[in-house]
Amino acid sequence: MGLKAFWDEKVVPRIIKCACASPAIMELRAGIVPQAQGRVFELGCGGGLNQQFYDPARVTGFAGLDPSDKLLDYAREAAARKGWQADLRAGVGEDIPFPDESFDTVVCTYTLCSVNDPAQVMRELHRILKPKGTLLFLEHGLSPDAGVAKWQRRIEPVWVPLMGGCHLTRPVTAPVLQQGFQLEAPGHRYMPGMPKWAAWMEWGSAVKRA
Ligand SMILES: C[S@@+](CC[C@H](N)C(=O)[O-])C[C@H]1O[C@@H](n2cnc3c(N)ncnc32)[C@H](O)[C@@H]1O
Repeated sequence: MGLKAFWDEKVVPRIIKCACASPAIMELRAGIVPQAQGRVFELGCGGGLNQQFYDPARVTGFAGLDPSDKLLDYAREAAARKGWQADLRAGVGEDIPFPDESFDTVVCTYTLCSVNDPAQVMRELHRILKPKGTLLFLEHGLSPDAGVAKWQRRIEPVWVPLMGGCHLTRPVTAPVLQQGFQLEAPGHRYMPGMPKWAAWMEWGSAVKRA
C-alpha cells in the first residue's frame, strides 16, 4: 500500500471519527438527528456517530450509504451497540441505490463537504424522499464573512487532499433552497474552540414540497 492509500484508508477515517465527535458537534447532532422519523436514510453514514441520537420509537427503518469501508465498519459497530437492524451499504450519494420516494427522512451531516458532485447528490436526496418528507442537514461550509472566506479559499487546496476530499468553501443552505425544499428551523454559527475557517456550521430541516 502506498503512502497516499495508507493515509486515506487508515489515517483519515480515524481523524474524521475523532474530529466529528467533539462535544460541541455532538451537541448540534443531538438537536437535529432525533427529529428523524419513519423510514430513515443517512447519507455518509460512516463513523456511525449519529446513530446514538435516533429515537427507535420514531424510526421504523434505517438505511445508510458511505464509500469508506473503514468508516462503514464503525457504523456497523454503532448499529450493533444500538441493537437495531440497519441496512448499511457501500456507495456514493451521486447514485443512491434506492427507489424514488422511498424515505420519510433523509439525514446528511458533515458529508456534502466531501462528495464529488454536490448538485447531483442534492438531486438524489430529493428523489428518494417521499413528498412532504424531510431532509435534516448539518454541515460546515463557506463562511458569510469575506475575511474568513478568503482564508478558506487559501487553505482549501492543501486541506482537500489531506482530509479525504473535505472542502471548506461549499455553500450549505443555498443548494437546499435551489433544489426546491421548503426550509424550516434553519440555524448557523461558528463553533467555539475551532479556527473560524473550519468552524462555520449551518443546519436545518427542509421539507420536500408535495
Ligand atoms: C467528515 S465525514 C462525516 C461522517 C458522518 N456523516 C458524520 O456526520 O460524522 C464525511 C463522510 O462522507 C463520506 N463520503 C465521501 N464522499 C462521499 C460520497 N460521494 N457519497 C457519500 N458519502 C461520501 C465519507 O466516507 C465520510 O464518511
